[in-house]
Amino acid sequence: MNWLVTGGAGYIGTHVVRALTAAGEGVVVLDDLSTGARERVPEGVPLVVGSVLDRALLDETFRAHTVDGVVHIAGKKQVPESVVRPLYYYEENVEGLRTLLAATVEAGVTRFLFSSSAAVYGMPDVHLVDEQTPCAPINPYGESKLVGEWLIRATARAHGLSYAALRYFNVAGAGAPELADEGVFNLVPMVFEKLQANRAPLIFGNDYDTADGTCVRDFIHVVDLAEAHVAAASRLARDADARLVLNVGGGEGTSVRAMVDLIQKVTGLSDVAPTVEPRRAGDPARVVASAARIERELGWKARLQTPEMVASAWAGWQRRH
Ligand SMILES: NC(=O)c1ccc[n+]([C@@H]2O[C@H](COP(=O)([O-])OP(=O)(O)OC[C@H]3O[C@@H](n4cnc5c(N)ncnc54)[C@H](O)[C@@H]3O)[C@@H](O)[C@H]2O)c1
Repeated sequence: MNWLVTGGAGYIGTHVVRALTAAGEGVVVLDDLSTGARERVPEGVPLVVGSVLDRALLDETFRAHTVDGVVHIAGKKQVPESVVRPLYYYEENVEGLRTLLAATVEAGVTRFLFSSSAAVYGMPDVHLVDEQTPCAPINPYGESKLVGEWLIRATARAHGLSYAALRYFNVAGAGAPELADEGVFNLVPMVFEKLQANRAPLIFGNDYDTADGTCVRDFIHVVDLAEAHVAAASRLARDADARLVLNVGGGEGTSVRAMVDLIQKVTGLSDVAPTVEPRRAGDPARVVASAARIERELGWKARLQTPEMVASAWAGWQRRH
């Protein structure tokens, strides 16, 4: 099968491209390189440089390459920026998806895999978040992903697409040092940055109703996440009726304090103790996936643990800094 992977030059996309090609799938990448990098696309994989908002380019790409399915990873992902620039996030994440879906339908392509996010759940008040947990996003980023899922569902009904929307939890780690996340928007790189500057890592709130009082999250290694895409692609390849919405998480909670301790241990940068700051608005106490549905539907389960995530991310950080 041949897959058009949008956002294939970014952090997650580059891992998905490698996992798909390792599984024997054909890949074409479309990426506007706004946050991605050309060097991240493996040799031999065609790269079309441009935006998913460019309908003419999409039509040309579908004409020039054999495409059996689309893996739509491209998107903007910074929650605080989405609050300040909602129109931009809706344009990139919703209008970009709408344009891509229109071109996909027009090209007669019937398989669609979408990068969604646990942000669709907002502030869930449950021990394990399953796919029946009500979606109530609390920022434009999360809204744009939920609207994206609805758009795909409606298009699937009207035009006969099979699809999988993968709701990623907290992605971390790297498959190789040069593939590590270059952004400093998630907990692990944020702590690296502080420690390397010999400054205290920040913990926002230690009075939550959790075992150590800090927020609890579900971390997923990007290599496991990429394998979930391979499993989903293989399901879409053989099941024209697939209409899947799946959590992609490890199913285990790790507290922010435990993660900071682990990072200090792995990096050996343990001189400065973390500082506890007041809670941040919009941080739920606990967000941990039930990963039962994805295991049942795709036979996929996370294998790698937080020490492997931190060690591989640290190797990438050291290479760059
Ligand atoms: N990183 C996470 O923790 C996380 C969690 C949940 C969901 N996601 C989703 O996963 C996807 C990938 O995230 P990432 O962490 O790899 O981010 P990233 O910024 O590293 O990758 C995004 C890629 O998409 C490309 N891109 C952006 N806008 C584009 C456009 N209009 N047209 C074509 N290409 C475009 C960028 O150049 C980049 O290569 C995003 O949709 C994000 O919302 C990420």
